[in-house]
Amino acid sequence: MSQDTTAASAATSNTGDALENLLHENRRFPPSADFAAHAVIQAGEYEEAAADRPAFWAKQARGLLSWHKDFTETLDWSNPPFAKWFGDGQLNAAYNALDRHVENGLGERVAIYFEGEPGDTRTYTYAQLTEEVKKAANAFESLGVVKGDRVAVYLPMIPEAVITLLACARIGAVHSVVFGGFSADALRSRIDDAEAKLVVTADGTYRRGKPSALKPAVDAALTAPGHTVGHVVVVKRNGENVDWIEGRDLWWDDSVGAASAEHTAVGHDAEHPLFILYTSGTTGRPKGILHTTGGYLTQAAYTHKAVFDLHPETDVYWCTADVGWVTGHTYVAYAPLINGATQLIYEGTPDSPHQGRWWELIEKYKVSILYTAPTAIRTCMKWGREIPSKYDLSSIRVLGSVGEPINPEAWMWYRDVIGANAGGNGEKKENPAPIVDTWWQTETGAQMIAPLPGVTATKPGSAQTPLPGIAVDVVDEMGESVPNGSGGYLVIREPWPAMLRGIWGDEQRYKDTYWSRFDSMYFAGDGAKFDDDGDVWLLGRVDDVMNVSGHRLSTTEIESALVSHPSVAEAAVVGAADETTGQTVVAFVILRGSAVDDPDIVTTLRNHVGKEIGPIAKPKTILVVPELPKTRSGKIMRRLLKDVAEGRDVGDASTLADNSVMQQIADSLKK
Ligand code: PRX
Repeated sequence: MSQDTTAASAATSNTGDALENLLHENRRFPPSADFAAHAVIQAGEYEEAAADRPAFWAKQARGLLSWHKDFTETLDWSNPPFAKWFGDGQLNAAYNALDRHVENGLGERVAIYFEGEPGDTRTYTYAQLTEEVKKAANAFESLGVVKGDRVAVYLPMIPEAVITLLACARIGAVHSVVFGGFSADALRSRIDDAEAKLVVTADGTYRRGKPSALKPAVDAALTAPGHTVGHVVVVKRNGENVDWIEGRDLWWDDSVGAASAEHTAVGHDAEHPLFILYTSGTTGRPKGILHTTGGYLTQAAYTHKAVFDLHPETDVYWCTADVGWVTGHTYVAYAPLINGATQLIYEGTPDSPHQGRWWELIEKYKVSILYTAPTAIRTCMKWGREIPSKYDLSSIRVLGSVGEPINPEAWMWYRDVIGANAGGNGEKKENPAPIVDTWWQTETGAQMIAPLPGVTATKPGSAQTPLPGIAVDVVDEMGESVPNGSGGYLVIREPWPAMLRGIWGDEQRYKDTYWSRFDSMYFAGDGAKFDDDGDVWLLGRVDDVMNVSGHRLSTTEIESALVSHPSVAEAAVVGAADETTGQTVVAFVILRGSAVDDPDIVTTLRNHVGKEIGPIAKPKTILVVPELPKTRSGKIMRRLLKDVAEGRDVGDASTLADNSVMQQIADSLKK
């Protein structure tokens, strides 16, 4: 973990001015009397949780989940940072998400409304989804997958993604989803690291009206010898021709479709691994974040109910995240189904075939809870309020935000244009839907800081309050709590149920990354500040992680990709502030020899990053420079490059080994 305090202070100072303005934010939006009266969580919850944190979580675990075997010990923290929650209990995630609802007479309730990008639709009741998951569980078992085996999943946002995850969980196999926007190389390294036995993919998907292939990346990932994959199950989605390896490849319809719909869910240990999800860190190699079953599901279900004020009998919930990210795991595949909710899944982008598609879907399905990212909100702001205003969004009751800080302007637009829409005729609701800004991470597994919509007076731009049962703090360099009004590092002081249990195959890296910066505290990698009311403001990463459209990217990973190209001698990558996407990737490269005269070099390098990592990591800007600013010990001073990328005067450059470097860079950019 980078402990570069310069980076920390830079993150804080870059956001400093904006923050001063933010902290004078004095708008407050208390819940309406009606909302508060019907809210599932009341204010007393905070005190109850604070009085006895483990008891609070034990109550949630028993109240929200069905256990094959009850637990006797809530938390074992005798060997930190390795936590065991509900350690001697046993449960089955798929049984909790599916079978028990059917047994409880909810089999006819809609679990999933699916809307494909081309407009095809499917509806799954809980009974139907249970049947599909049982068939997939049987199919995977018949391919030799047993408890503890890893299954790589490379799928678009279609119901089969959820079915696959739950089928794995049902049989105790550990899923490892790789986002469809990652390249074959990235997929290969994740398959290899997890030693996956099975890959589940699709022929392809649709993107903005056109077919877009997926299986070729799986084929390319599996060309190298020595991998552990025995079979590839392929969902037929877009009907494009695909290469086929007899004996290895099977169509979903032939394997899952032909499997028996009888399957009994057995209990797995609460600490049995549920999934691995790779995420970018400060070094080149992505980390396989490991989550286990009982604690993860407890916090997933609790937060989904509490933060979205879920009324499963009447709400229609829609989280726009892709299953390739943690939000698509916790708040699409698991929590809504555990809680017996009805949810919408949509395959496509917000602008296909037109920029009103999301709002059209909300009107069509009467979505009442929407969970999305600030980037999407800012993009819709750019397209204009007249687009959503044409649709009837009056069903909306709660609006969620996740993945990056939401600026107060976007927050107010979200509230006014989406949350106050009373029917597409320009009329406004008297009480707009509350906004819940939720801070959490792949590592935390579930939401950690967020308002409770029936309790909290919400404040534009701030995630506000640690959830009941969560102990968050902001500390200085020495690990001391800072007073309200001061900035510092966000830490978590006590173990929480959905916390990561480690990094796949690398215990030491888990300790070093999260638990070594401060004694006995989890270091999140984010800067934060308490305002005078004690509300938390998130200030962005203090390490070498960028956040582009709510997606986490590592500067070092992209630098490694760039220098792996023969034309590149050295590279430095920074995240530059961007109005819409939060940050964009800007790369500074020093070229080798004749590459300097190649007019296509920038395009070549962008495509190279696309091939090495995936299209999402392609730098928006690549600047060819003669030198990079380095300290005397050879460390690249990204802070100065960030100043250049964001068009600011370059800050203090006195620690540079050669202080003419910034001038050389400025001169070369003028050219
Ligand atoms: O910097 C924080 C930012 O996203 C990081 C976690 O990224 P990831 O693991 O991909 O998970 C994203 C979805 C949970 C955090 O370290 N972040 C996430 N939510 C917020 C946020 N920053 C500010 N406000 C948020 N609500």
